[in-house]
Amino acid sequence: MKKGWLIVNGYLKSKKFDEIYAWLLKAAEEAECELRILENDRLDSILPADSSKVNWREKPDFVIFWDKDVKLARLLEAEGFRVFNSADAIETCDDKSLTFIKLKNTDIKMPKTYCAPMTFEKEYSDYTFVLQVEGSLGYPMIIKENKGSFGEQVYKVEDYYEAVEQIKKIGGCDFIMQEYIESSKGQDVRIHVVGNEIVTAMKRVNKNDFRVNITNGGSMEKYQPTKEQCEMALKVCEKLGLDFAGVDIMFGKNGEPVLCEVNSNAHFKNIYDCTGVNVAEKIIDYILKKIN
Ligand SMILES: Nc1ncnc2c1ncn2[C@@H]1O[C@H](COP(=O)(O)OP(=O)(O)O)[C@@H](O)[C@H]1O
Ligand SMILES: [Mg+2]
Repeated sequence: MKKGWLIVNGYLKSKKFDEIYAWLLKAAEEAECELRILENDRLDSILPADSSKVNWREKPDFVIFWDKDVKLARLLEAEGFRVFNSADAIETCDDKSLTFIKLKNTDIKMPKTYCAPMTFEKEYSDYTFVLQVEGSLGYPMIIKENKGSFGEQVYKVEDYYEAVEQIKKIGGCDFIMQEYIESSKGQDVRIHVVGNEIVTAMKRVNKNDFRVNITNGGSMEKYQPTKEQCEMALKVCEKLGLDFAGVDIMFGKNGEPVLCEVNSNAHFKNIYDCTGVNVAEKIIDYILKKIN
């Protein structure tokens, strides 16, 4: 019987996350594999400093890393564990500026994007950079914290003054400034990829907000993705080295796919409710095939 660890964040306690873990545990049980949940703060259970304490018979055949604690993922990889997704892939997806940088100069279409300049100060003493980017991005402009989810750290600003005010509010977090894709206002497509295959997709819509996140009031619709959207989702996962992901794609002016973001730990309860496809089962099946 194959053994795996499911690494999760010990400080994220909510039903939404517990549900995800339960789905993965159930899928593992059905595939007759032993999956043990471990929180990232259980340092001595995961990687004891004294390696003589490691019971190698207990060592898992694989690790599902359902967290963003990239250093821990790297440590596990350094110890020879097979980690899904890899530390590199998680790090790239968890930082929207890194996703942009890694995919720049490829044929993946993304909104025009600038990374905010780094400062040693607590707050910028000079906002000239906003004047510099507004010429090519225009307004409304999207400001996004590099690390954020559920649409909660994504802002639309209407002019220079709002931009500066928003940047002050962000208060020192890294961010990007991005072209607003008006043609995709309140709609996008979420495509789940597992092991180079499209497993399911849905359209998300929100009539009251440009952000489509379900947590933010968006709703889901059954949707058959186009060939171009599917190709984009697969190519993105290949380029970022993802074993599985939820790829979010917007609609360009002529309906062409424009990449919004990539989620290395995409939640799968909503997509199940919408499509009946159990992504957790696909992930477990894929991992078991991969390690055999
Ligand atoms: N450049 C953009 N133009 C138009 N809408 C955007 C843009 N970027 C993000 N959005 C909207 O905001 C939502 C949240 O942004 P996203 O980058 O996916 O952050 P999060 O990680 O919080 O989900 C997207 O699903 C999309 O609806
Ligand atoms: Mg998103």
